[in-house]
Amino acid sequence: MSSSFDVRLESLASKPEAPANARLDAARAPRPNTFYLETFGCQMNAHDSEKVAGVLAGRGYLPVDRPEDAQLVFYNTCSIREKAAQKVFSRLGLFREREGNGQIIGVLGCVAQQEGEEIFERAPWVSLVCGSASYRKLPELLAQLESGNRRVMGLDTDTDETFETELTRRDNPFRAYITIIEGCSKSCAYCVVPFTRGPERSRTSAAVLEEVRRLAGAGYSEIQFLGQTVNSYRDPSPRRMSFAELLVAASGVSGIRRVRFTTSHPSDFNRDIVDAIDSVPALCEHVHLPVQSGSTRILRAMRRTYTREEYLEKVALIRAARRPISISSDIIVGFPGESDEDFAETLSLLDAAQYDSVFAFQFSPRPNTEALSLSGTVREETRAQRLQILQDKQREIQLARNQSLIGLTLEVLVDGAARKAGNWLGRTSSNRMVNFASPEPNLLGQYVSITITSAGPGNLVGIRAASVSG
Ligand code: 5AD
Ligand code: SF4
Repeated sequence: MSSSFDVRLESLASKPEAPANARLDAARAPRPNTFYLETFGCQMNAHDSEKVAGVLAGRGYLPVDRPEDAQLVFYNTCSIREKAAQKVFSRLGLFREREGNGQIIGVLGCVAQQEGEEIFERAPWVSLVCGSASYRKLPELLAQLESGNRRVMGLDTDTDETFETELTRRDNPFRAYITIIEGCSKSCAYCVVPFTRGPERSRTSAAVLEEVRRLAGAGYSEIQFLGQTVNSYRDPSPRRMSFAELLVAASGVSGIRRVRFTTSHPSDFNRDIVDAIDSVPALCEHVHLPVQSGSTRILRAMRRTYTREEYLEKVALIRAARRPISISSDIIVGFPGESDEDFAETLSLLDAAQYDSVFAFQFSPRPNTEALSLSGTVREETRAQRLQILQDKQREIQLARNQSLIGLTLEVLVDGAARKAGNWLGRTSSNRMVNFASPEPNLLGQYVSITITSAGPGNLVGIRAASVSG
């Protein structure tokens, strides 16, 4: 295996997204050997961008903060919902007037995979279109651009390979992401991911653990395993390590204090994962287990492969653990055919599941998906109302759950300074955000004990107890 490196350059969190109507400074000319990379969408995209930035750094390109300064301008795009997909076209529009100034504009990620060559038609000033399943071709595509080719494309999804790079530009200095499984072979009726990221393929357990050891050696104490259906992981090597075994093995690597994983699919979620969390303190007490709907009828129409009852059995498994494992979820409202009764079942599932956080979305019809041709469209107004009702209800549940933690002392990994001077932000093992005051000049990257004094629906507030360690 070739040697790999990790470089930490700047914080992803500190780079605000440019407003869609921002204009570029016409007076500025691009600087040679520089790149600007903006990322939309999920954690997988954020980590893909870290790897893409690593490939670029490996070829001698330096990052810049403004698109007008960069020789290469890349957008890593998301197409999970229509709004996300539209964003990139408003960005590309900014470059219409700048054609011929030597900048190379590239579209990466899920919109690239989905729209393919059409991007060149809509925005002829684009030079590179590379889908998320084709990143392993990126060095070759870059070489073609460097030798003067002005239209290059990578759009394969019929691959059984994963995107491995020698250099990864890690944006978060405290948490390192590791993709363990790429793509998705489920076929949820609303979802573009199987089309944009191709079929599911896992990395070998040896390659994953080697990366964990390397990251621990580079000073990271928290790692997060990523995959669209992370717990569908199947070790392709003869070792045949199960997902739960891989979690335990990663937690045992010297220097690693926290291991997270996201996103779990309910159908592949089993007791062995809960047992692993119960027996290994370094495994974080949080599971992201999207339900999507509380109605079995709608789950069937969504092709989610489980019923409401089967889902709640998985929740019961988690709630029966010795550790207080938090559960978060994704929910779609207004899927075609969703009646008031179906929606009422989603609301009652919130009561039953007692989630610690929920990401809720209005259904958005997407190209290639089965749901596109389903009848029973739910009116936009109804979708918006349902979303509001669901969010209001969940806020109350979260407030009550968070308030039940007042008085407890929790370990927090400090990962940011709060806006108010002398205040810090950190995360608990259960993935709750904690805000606390401390006069120390720099607590970043440290694990500290915080006693919770008050709580809101989205965060906890506390005071410093004794230090767990430095
Ligand atoms: N419309 C709305 N939400 C969607 N998601 C996926 N596809 C769609 C769609 N077409 C949501 C699901 C998924 C999350 C990442 O995005 O809830 O879990
Ligand atoms: Fe999309 Fe379903 Fe795969 Fe998740 S499991 S990525 S929702 S197809």
